Amino acid sequence: SIPEYIKIVEVGPTDGLQNEKQIVPTSVKAKLIKMLVSSGLPIVEATSFVSPKWVPQLADAKDVMEAIRNVEGARFPVLTPNVKGFEAAVAAGAKEVAIFAAASESFSKFNINCSIEESLTRYRDVALAAGKLSFPVRGYISCVVGCPMEGMVAPAKVAYVARKLYDMGCSEISLGDTIGVGTPGTVIPMLEAVMGFVPVDKLAVHFHDTYGQALSNILVSLQMGISTVDSSVSGLGGWQYAKGASGNVATEDVVYMLDGLGVKTNVNLGKLMLAGEFISKHLGRPSGSKTAIALSKV
Ligand code: HMG
Ligand code: MG
Repeated sequence: SIPEYIKIVEVGPTDGLQNEKQIVPTSVKAKLIKMLVSSGLPIVEATSFVSPKWVPQLADAKDVMEAIRNVEGARFPVLTPNVKGFEAAVAAGAKEVAIFAAASESFSKFNINCSIEESLTRYRDVALAAGKLSFPVRGYISCVVGCPMEGMVAPAKVAYVARKLYDMGCSEISLGDTIGVGTPGTVIPMLEAVMGFVPVDKLAVHFHDTYGQALSNILVSLQMGISTVDSSVSGLGGWQYAKGASGNVATEDVVYMLDGLGVKTNVNLGKLMLAGEFISKHLGRPSGSKTAIALSKV
């Protein structure tokens, strides 16, 4: 059976916009976040306190936080790759953070310029600092099924990193199929391996729709008891180094499926679509959500 309520974590302003070629103005980011909150989304990952040399798209992190300072009704976690980022996030008013490790060595080096072990040491320091302020810390794991450089990733590697993140105090661990290669055939054994170490209510799934598998993968995850799902409005995002990679699963498509299943999300699909239309218009391209395209023609 499937959980009665699914918590959707909106990652469009981070995982989505960080991969856009064009840099979106702060005011547009802030308006997007406000519209996402208006749709009922409980958690909107707002920005990243990462190196602006690595991710110029989110170099305005502090300004985004300032622009949404008075927005109520949702939580606004931010990505922090190290203590420097954590301190900047706190100074900007963040109340919860996310750290991001990988299950593949090559991707860890590529994304955060260090080995998996080095990253875990670094993240322990972030978790410690966050613990002192009683901030929730979400731990991401990238490449939980496959890596663009190394190919398939063994479930045991994912389980190892998940256990480490859980042990350092992460309140939630989000399992990312970064390049969207997973199918239920590979996702189920990965989840089984991770569930050997981390309680299911602490897990989230984060699928990219590169091969059109995201909704199937979400459905099997829900059937295994997972009740937190990451998605990106309008399917924003992608991964510039993976051939043909498309974005995260579209939030509109997830909400449509969950509405159909009678699962509660508290998200209003019509209002969510307005947020998707707003950002698609700004980016000058059609929505990446099949649901949004279909419903806008009805
Ligand atoms: P590095 O170059 O090894 O860092 O980068 P460093 O410590 O040697 O510092 C180099 C420079 O960066 C220094 O500045 C630092 O001050 C500065 P300089 O002296 O040269 O002027 N710096 C910072 N500046 C601002 N904020 C900071 C910060 N840290 C150092 N926090 C580092 C290492 C981790 C910083 C870098 O690789 C980085 O920022 N990476 C972030 C990459 C990223 O954001 N990736 C996307 C998010 S993860 C994701 O999307 C996956 C997910 O979607 C799940 C999935 O699908 O897999 C969540
Ligand atoms: Mg992602």
